[in-house]
Order: sequence, then C-alpha cells, then structure tokens
Amino acid sequence: MTEIVKERRLGSPAVRAFVALGVTVALTAAAILVLGQAAYDWVKAVHVIAVIAWMAGMLYLPRLFVYHANAVAGSELSETFKIMEYRLMTIIMNPAMIVAWVLGLWLAYQAGWFSSGWFHAKLALVLALSGMHGLLSVASRRFAEDRNTKSSRYWRMMNEVPTVLMIGIVVLVIVKPF
Ligand code: HEM
Repeated sequence: MTEIVKERRLGSPAVRAFVALGVTVALTAAAILVLGQAAYDWVKAVHVIAVIAWMAGMLYLPRLFVYHANAVAGSELSETFKIMEYRLMTIIMNPAMIVAWVLGLWLAYQAGWFSSGWFHAKLALVLALSGMHGLLSVASRRFAEDRNTKSSRYWRMMNEVPTVLMIGIVVLVIVKPF
C-alpha cells in the first residue's frame, strides 16, 4: 500500500488540519469576546496570516504539477509528488482557505463593507480564486490516481492565474478605489 493511500485511510493530516482550524476559530472567538472593539484589528491580522498560507499553496501547487506532469507514472519521483501535493492541500490550503473566508466575512459584516463597490469586486476575485482552488483540488486527486491528462505547459500557464487574482485583490482591499 502506498503511503498516500495509507494517509488517506487514516486521515491523520486532515484530522490535524481540522484540529488546527478549530483552535484558530476558538481563539478568534475568545479574542472577540475579551477584546471587544479592538478585536477587529486582531481578526484582520489572523485573516492576513491565513491568506498568506493559502496563497503560498495556490502558487506552489501548480508549480509542483508542472514537474509532476513530466514524471513517469509509478516512479519514485511521481509518488513523492503525490505525497507533497496531498499534504499541501489538506494540511495548509484547505484550512487556510476556510479561515480566510470565515474571518473575511466577519470583518465585512462588522465594518459594513457589504455595501461598498471595492468589496463586491474583491468578492468576485476571491470567488474566482476559490474556483481555482477547487480546480487544483480535483487535479491533485487525478494526479494521485495517475490520471492527469494536462501538459506541463498547461500547468505553467495555470500557475499565473492565482498571481493575477492576488494582485487585483490586494489593490482593491488596500486602495479601495471605488
Ligand atoms: C476569502 C474571502 C475574503 C473575504 C470575505 C475578505 C474580506 C476582507 C475584509 C472585509 C477585510 C477588512 C478590510 C478593511 O478593514 O479595510 C480584509 C482585509 C484584508 N484582506 Fe481579505 N478577504 C478575503 C480574502 C482575501 C484574499 C484572498 C486576500 C489576498 C490575496 C486578502 C487580502 C487582504 C488584506 C491584505 C487585508 C488587509 C487590508 C488592510 O488592512 O488595509 N483577503 N479582507
């Protein structure tokens, strides 16, 4: 049995990731209760930390796919890529995306950003980023089953999508142009 199949059965990285997620949400809830008004800045700090972790994965995973697409199925290299991709997705990217969404929506609700134009535009780009996350998740499963059909050139191009979205999102939230 390959290590990745064993891990999927035991679900240990996923369990650890969701424990970390629970701890983050509990600590944030405690900060909100204890700090009152000052909680907004603390929650924003945790939101940005989660976004950095999410983006690290969004930029690195397609890069792994670029090399994995050229690796021979069943080779030691291909099996190593499978473990790296699975762990990146379950331990880092999934929990980080959930924390970024939950805290981002809380911030918007608290400050009343739901009626601002820049926030609507940011939300559209973040939804596109989340769609890209879903696409990478499906691709990671296909790679794990040796069923990837996309070329290394395709993944090289896909690698640019999160970068472009990230630039738009950061400009919108910092400059708030409209
Ligand atoms: C997942 C859904 C997301 C929601 C609902 C959301 C929402 C928000 C809200 C309401 C704020 C507070 C804005 C303020 O107080 O000025 C904020 C801050 C911020 N967000 Fe997000 N966000 C999300 C994802 C992202 C992503 C993907 C990025 C970057 C790629 C990002 C980058 C930032 C940054 C840098 C700040 C701090 C801005 C500042 O303090 O001036 N967010 N976000």
